[in-house]
Amino acid sequence: MAKLKQQARPPGSSKSSQKLLMPYSYFIIISVVGALAAYAYFHWPSKDSTLIKFLPPIQLAEQPKKTIWGSFRSQNYFGLRTKTPKGMLFGMAWYSQPSMMSMPNMRHVCDQGDGLNHYAWTKADGRSFGQQIVNDSSGLILNTDWISHEDTFTARISGLQKNPKQRTAVILYLLKQDPQATLSINKKLNDRHVKRLFNGQSDEFGSYYVDLSISAHGVYSSTLGGASVDITNIRDYFLRHTTADETSDGLIYQLNQQDVVENPVIAAIQLNLPEKFDLTISFNSQNHTALTEKSFLEALNARVTSFEEKIEEAFKLKNKGYTNNELHLGQLALSNMLGSIGYFYGHNKVQLPGSDKVQAYGTHSLVTAVPSRPFFPRGFLWDEGFHNMLIRKFDQELSLEILVSWLNTMNVNGWIPREMILGEEAESRVPAEFVIQRSNVANPPSWFYVIWKMIEDKEFSVKHKKVFEQIYPKVSRWYNWLRQSQKGDQKNTFRWRGRNATIETELNPKTLSSGLDDYPRASHPSTQERHLDLRCWLAIASRVMVELANLFGSEAEKKRYDEYLKHDSDFEDLVEKHWSHEAKAFVDYGLHSYDVELKRVPLKKKGKQPEEWIWKRVSEKPQLRMVDDVFGYNSLYPLIARLIPPNSEYMEHTLNRIRDEKELWTNFGLRSLSKQSPYYGQKNTEHDPPYWRGYIWINLNYLTLSALNHYSGVPGRLQERTQQIFTELRQNIVRNMAEELQRTGYIWENYDDKTGRGRGTHPFTGWSSLVLMIMSDQLDG
Ligand SMILES: *[C@@H]1O[C@H](CO)[C@@H](O)[C@H](O)[C@H]1NC(C)=O
Ligand SMILES: *[C@@H]1O[C@H](CO)[C@@H](O)[C@H](O)[C@H]1NC(C)=O
Ligand SMILES: *[C@@H]1O[C@H](CO)[C@@H](O)[C@H](O)[C@H]1NC(C)=O
Repeated sequence: MAKLKQQARPPGSSKSSQKLLMPYSYFIIISVVGALAAYAYFHWPSKDSTLIKFLPPIQLAEQPKKTIWGSFRSQNYFGLRTKTPKGMLFGMAWYSQPSMMSMPNMRHVCDQGDGLNHYAWTKADGRSFGQQIVNDSSGLILNTDWISHEDTFTARISGLQKNPKQRTAVILYLLKQDPQATLSINKKLNDRHVKRLFNGQSDEFGSYYVDLSISAHGVYSSTLGGASVDITNIRDYFLRHTTADETSDGLIYQLNQQDVVENPVIAAIQLNLPEKFDLTISFNSQNHTALTEKSFLEALNARVTSFEEKIEEAFKLKNKGYTNNELHLGQLALSNMLGSIGYFYGHNKVQLPGSDKVQAYGTHSLVTAVPSRPFFPRGFLWDEGFHNMLIRKFDQELSLEILVSWLNTMNVNGWIPREMILGEEAESRVPAEFVIQRSNVANPPSWFYVIWKMIEDKEFSVKHKKVFEQIYPKVSRWYNWLRQSQKGDQKNTFRWRGRNATIETELNPKTLSSGLDDYPRASHPSTQERHLDLRCWLAIASRVMVELANLFGSEAEKKRYDEYLKHDSDFEDLVEKHWSHEAKAFVDYGLHSYDVELKRVPLKKKGKQPEEWIWKRVSEKPQLRMVDDVFGYNSLYPLIARLIPPNSEYMEHTLNRIRDEKELWTNFGLRSLSKQSPYYGQKNTEHDPPYWRGYIWINLNYLTLSALNHYSGVPGRLQERTQQIFTELRQNIVRNMAEELQRTGYIWENYDDKTGRGRGTHPFTGWSSLVLMIMSDQLDG
């Protein structure tokens, strides 16, 4: 940190000028000017302005309609909204009426702590409908289905409680974010037929109203309408307004009827329901009536049917011999990915390197898929590239909308934040230490892979020529920023920024920017470091830049990208910079010690009694060398980027180590780090468990399979072996993920390399959903 600050110091305060002797008054003037300059450097907006300056946004040929409802509140079990910044929010919370005087266990925002048996969008197209099943540990099975129709929606919530005596409380609410809009609650809800719940007026919908029809007996209801609510804690708001009331059925918890104001910000109704119930909620706008009853069912069924046909068309799974469990896995993976697509609005918090000043970055509107609804309900740059490798196959127009949405968040320098934490609702889900994004930190440009595929699809790229013409200059900036900002100290070498060179408590200082977080790199971060994966990512990106420049660039640009590509894919140079002759593997290079360990050491501080202990890293003196006691995902990047000549000894060594059970091979997929590495399964600090140090991750398995698939088609002495490894690896991953879904009800963040068991965050239908691409025979498509 101190070092970075020094580099950033304005020229006026450099050491040489201080050496001059000068009269006192000059000294004062110069000091004042210097101080002002320093102040300006750190605080003057103009100095920082490139950080928060943006190019004109890319325009899609057809702007997606903003008033279309969707399950764009990724973090909610069931929440609908439109893609407008101040749009109306619809949501639902529920709980089982507690049997004793204890607080209700209310479910609202996806939370692993709720311990649900299972929940997922089992069918969803990310556009017009969704079907979700929620298997609550209380014995309640909920189905939440919805469709949009013009600017209306209809949702059907069905419940079945195992225990007939158990009553279920369901809260439905509408929250207006636009202060100009009006909202009111109908408090008379005493007949059993269609009821008007809410109505009001808004710019988006004109005069709108929400109706409910209930099929259930003996329903109690109560309402709540508050003048203000903390959008990040709606659940808490409901709980604070819940009281226990004595009824003829005993004690019931419900929203307190007294608390209804005129024109509330949030309007809610609670229904206390018997063991079986069906609720249909319809949102009607001034110009359109929502579909209900028969027309709702017809529309829903039609969309389900066309969804299933579209899946088959895109992935062709029939007649491939998959089991029902495996087919279920594939469909669930895609559906929950699409059903989790969110719309976020707000600004990031960012910092220039070397500055303490946090700036608002944006405002931005972002349409993005998310890695995991309970744990990571927001956009992540490199994850999103992986997500769209899958989404593109199903709905390329949707991928284009998402790509454009991301590219429009890029600043003029070509930087895109690694994590998109937009708006209060999103920020409330992120630990404070991760909120601030730094403008020197990159993330793998996995999107280039998707862009490549999009422009290879001639029909698509011709249709969207105008959009790609706008994409090209933005992507060029991104690429050039990456190349410049992450360059290494030698030609054609690259280094991820953001590693902490002074930290003493981490076994191996993390490289969050690489996406592989704690994957071991050179033990002592230095400017001489070379990161293999980054160089390979640039080779992949250069390939795409060449194609883009051929279509949209000038002669000079074409020449430049050709030149870059030549350098990045120069295999001899790659061998020179990254091949360890001793280990026979591609690896990083840097200041590295072979002998590193975390030790509990006394922390001696003068006058401090008793003595404290801390976990601290101790090591043998590091040397500049190949980081060749580490073999794992990073070493596969030359294969992934298809830089290794087919049938070469390099290929053979790489295949050998992939297929070796003492290294990367398991019956469940490739582990992230060789069992032979001293870092295998090691904690990074006293409290940080291993993450990319053995467990099986689906995204890197996917990239590897895709490359193996490619090399399988190249005749030669290694062809058959490559095919074999490809086939076995594919089977292992699919079989294990299907078994784990069956056993646990979830798709997981990663899988244990010893047992195959799902672990980490769940449900995780971000890049783990690439399993569907793996199942289809078009890994390269
Ligand atoms: C709900 O989950 C439980 C526990 O995993 C399981 O036994 C039950 O079959 C599930 N019910 C449904 C309808 O999926
Ligand atoms: C309703 O339709 C009319 C006529 O087409 C249009 O002028 C108006 O803007 C629409 N209202 C809303 C809220 O979309
Ligand atoms: C690096 O780690 C040290 C020790 O934990 C910490 O004080 C410092 O703020 C860190 N630097 C950066 C840039 O995060």
